[in-house]
Amino acid sequence: MSFIELKNVYKVYKNGITAVADVNINIKKGDFVFIIGQTACGKSSLIKLLYREERPTKGQVIVGGINVAKLKNNRVYKLRRKIGIVFQDYKLLPKLTVYENVAFVLDSYGYKESEIKPKVIDALTRVGLKEKLRSFPNELSGGEQQRVCIARAIVNKPKVLVCDEPTGNLDATTSKEIMKVIDSINKELGTTIIMATHDQDIVNRMKKRVIALKDGMLIGDWEKGSYKLDETA
Ligand SMILES: Nc1ncnc2c1ncn2[C@@H]1O[C@H](COP(=O)(O)OP(=O)(O)OP(=O)(O)O)[C@@H](O)[C@H]1O
Ligand SMILES: [Mg+2]
Repeated sequence: MSFIELKNVYKVYKNGITAVADVNINIKKGDFVFIIGQTACGKSSLIKLLYREERPTKGQVIVGGINVAKLKNNRVYKLRRKIGIVFQDYKLLPKLTVYENVAFVLDSYGYKESEIKPKVIDALTRVGLKEKLRSFPNELSGGEQQRVCIARAIVNKPKVLVCDEPTGNLDATTSKEIMKVIDSINKELGTTIIMATHDQDIVNRMKKRVIALKDGMLIGDWEKGSYKLDETA
């Protein structure tokens, strides 16, 4: 059974732009999926529909049994607890330490410090940053900051990790390291990974499922795919 299901999904913004057009996707638990395509093809829009940053104009979006389009505002937290999110820009809180940045969300959920600490240490260990827990974001490299974001996203063991261009600001070597971290989360925790990227090297090296978009439409869905934007390429 699909864990994530998009059925005839459209996103038309108020300005009339159709960012997602009649997209159908089924994703199983534990899958690793790249969403590829040129700038403005609708990658971020598609991803935003998964965590209810945007609502579909038409069609159905189901994530872990939750009908996202119909979800009331006061129930969005139920969905967000199933999903970790990583962006291109790190969005860390500058006045908080690495530890505090990762602990922040658990704190807001009302966990006790005795419950928070082992979760934060585990998450920071997974991303290889345990020794930097007292550092502040501005004392870290870009790659290290992105590791903190990944730790923050997985600290409560979400079922899905959604990444929008997580390596967009990083050089090739650092990007490879970040991909190792994301791959290990998929393999060791069984987390479903959905990652938007236009990094061809990463997609070609990882040999995961690839979904290609063009002008909001799905133009390809390949197992163990490579970076190509039409059937014949
Ligand atoms: N909030 C919005 N309101 C109106 N139009 C939007 C909004 N967000 C995105 N768009 C438009 O929707 C289209 C798809 O944008 P989207 O950000 O999903 O593309 P993308 O594939 O993520 O691009 P990139 O690779 O540059 O990140 C674009 O034409 C964009 O201008
Ligand atoms: Mg985008």
